[in-house]
Amino acid sequence: MKLLVTGGAGFIGSNFVHHVLREHPEDEVVVLDLLTYAGNLENLKEAERNPRYRFVKGDIADSEVVDPLVAECDAVVHFAAESHVDRSIIEPAAFVRTNVIGTQVLLDAARNHRGKRFHHVSTDEVFGALGPNDAPFSEVTPYDPRSPYSASKAGSDHLVRAYFHTYGLPVTISNCSNNYGPYHFPEKLIPLSITNLLEGKNVPVYGDGKQVRDWLHVEDHCRAIDLVLRKGGIGETYCVGGNGERENIDIVRTLLDILGQSEDRIEYVKDRPGHDRRYAIDFSKIRNELGWEPSVTLDEGLRQTVEWFKAHEEWWKDVKSGTYREYYDRQYGE
Ligand code: NAD
Ligand code: TYD
Repeated sequence: MKLLVTGGAGFIGSNFVHHVLREHPEDEVVVLDLLTYAGNLENLKEAERNPRYRFVKGDIADSEVVDPLVAECDAVVHFAAESHVDRSIIEPAAFVRTNVIGTQVLLDAARNHRGKRFHHVSTDEVFGALGPNDAPFSEVTPYDPRSPYSASKAGSDHLVRAYFHTYGLPVTISNCSNNYGPYHFPEKLIPLSITNLLEGKNVPVYGDGKQVRDWLHVEDHCRAIDLVLRKGGIGETYCVGGNGERENIDIVRTLLDILGQSEDRIEYVKDRPGHDRRYAIDFSKIRNELGWEPSVTLDEGLRQTVEWFKAHEEWWKDVKSGTYREYYDRQYGE
């Protein structure tokens, strides 16, 4: 297959590109990415010399860029998005533009070139927030998004389903819980905590720190997407989770422990407005139908991730200081 991977220079997209090139020696990958603040060509450096890989800088909301790329590929795997809840609270418009309109432009291109598979990568945040004793989210949970980020992702999910029902586009959707692992942008809880601690800084914990997330190692997520793309039922949705429910404060304490640092580094700060209390996923459908389950435990995954960040100091220091943009400018002359 020849895959068009949108958002392939971001955290999960770049892990997916490496996964496909490694696991599917016949496949080709074209990455389409706008290289926003979250896109980083350093994430794709390992792939650069691979003749089965190509990078195109462009906007998923620009039909003139998107249309010929969709035409030359067999399938679209759609990661590109504005992905950070805190930014969505400050600037919702960018989220609607990329996540909703961008997805619609891609869907139209897939519709114009019949027979293209379309896999949409989405989030469990579309389902809203759970109370402590509520059953986890599953494929039948009603949508109830509560942040501009999750509302824009919900809008994109609805569009993907509408293109299946209205035009017969062969789509699949995965709604996954919080990921962590290599190339995770250090504005999110786990990489921010690790890199702050490595720099001798404090870790900001929002509110009481008792919010719960269901953490999944990014490589397990990539395996799930790959499986749904190749073996998933057309028109179907699959919930993907990590069996890794943990309070934020416990995550931070585990990282402090791994790094041998004291709890003095914890700094409770003002809470996020509308902060969702708990997310959790019931992934029975993908386990029963496709045989997928997480392979990395949270404790092991956190240990590996700390090691990765220790071994890739240049990567995260460049990201934090903004110099990773220079690499792009050197290569592409902007
Ligand atoms: P990210 O922010 O790390 O990467 C997003 C990528 O999309 C960046 O490379 C960026 O340059 C690119 N992009 C943004 N706007 C674009 C546009 N208009 N045109 C082309 N490219 C554009 O995000 P991520 O954490 O890797 O998430 C990838 C996808 O997975 C998103 O759709 C997100 O909603 C979903 N998801 C993320 C998580 C998570 O925990 N990070 C969990 C479940 C689902
Ligand atoms: P984040 O990594 O932003 O993912 P999401 O909001 O999509 O779940 O945040 C994970 C959790 O950690 C969330 O409950 C907010 C919290 N958090 C902090 O306590 N401190 C921080 O500095 C950040 C970025 C997040």
